[in-house]
Amino acid sequence: VPTAVLIGASSGVGRALGRRLASAGYSLVIVSRDARDIEASAADLRLRFGVECWPVAQDIADPSWDVDTFAAECHERLGTLDALLVPAGGGLPGDAGPNSKAVNEALGANYAGPARAAAAFGCLMSARGHGTIVLFSSIAAAAPRTKNTAYSAAKAALEAYAAGLRHALSQRGVSVIVIALGYVDSAQTFGLRLPFPVARAERVADYVLSRLNQRSPAGGKYYFPWFWWLVTTGLRCLPWFVYRRLRF
Ligand SMILES: NC(=O)c1ccc[n+]([C@@H]2O[C@H](COP(=O)([O-])OP(=O)(O)OC[C@H]3O[C@@H](n4cnc5c(N)ncnc54)[C@H](OP(=O)(O)O)[C@@H]3O)[C@@H](O)[C@H]2O)c1
Repeated sequence: VPTAVLIGASSGVGRALGRRLASAGYSLVIVSRDARDIEASAADLRLRFGVECWPVAQDIADPSWDVDTFAAECHERLGTLDALLVPAGGGLPGDAGPNSKAVNEALGANYAGPARAAAAFGCLMSARGHGTIVLFSSIAAAAPRTKNTAYSAAKAALEAYAAGLRHALSQRGVSVIVIALGYVDSAQTFGLRLPFPVARAERVADYVLSRLNQRSPAGGKYYFPWFWWLVTTGLRCLPWFVYRRLRF
């Protein structure tokens, strides 16, 4: 039976991923902060798909989180560790321009928590010579703006960490994948008027599963949908006097 640990499983992309993984027969450990939400999500997956699913209520931004013990417990429960997926994270209110509080807040869930989890699971997976780690970034990392200043920086830090980890683990049978998302229909975009198409969370989940199901998943960074590669590459080529005038 394939196994996965899914952090940020109670909503949006994480919830869609939980359903896709469970329907593919994965045994799961699923995590989010709200205990009632994550227990309800686990019960739903067990009932609908007949899989093993253990809920864990944990704030991954908490610096005192003992992530190595958590990873060891997941391994003990599941017996193997095929995949770690960390869609937890997101933008935050008040992160528009200079805001010293937003810097720390954005880092916890978007950089430190996912990076620490990737490190802990990376150690266990590399000792067994097998596993895939999937982290989630944003087009904001490539095109930082007023509206999400600290969030963009935290995602860029996560991408840099993932690139180093990919290199470190590439000879040990562990793949590190970053999915850079544009707009997705989730709690984070609800009610917003957006200038670009919005992807369905289920389509993101299908795409991630297609990568995970490869015989030896290729590491690296992938934009979803692909056209965001074109958009962000174009934005990065713009001279500053044009970029500063953009309103989106
Ligand atoms: N939605 C978009 O348009 C968009 C665009 C680009 C990138 N992304 C990225 O894609 C990923 C998924 O986004 P989404 O829209 O699906 O998010 P979402 O609907 O807000 O769901 C986030 C999930 O993560 C959990 N979570 C959040 N902070 C956590 C923490 N500190 N510790 C543990 N669990 C935590 C949430 O549950 P609790 O609140 O109960 O903890 C929830 O289950 C995020 O990394 C986001 O930055 C999203």
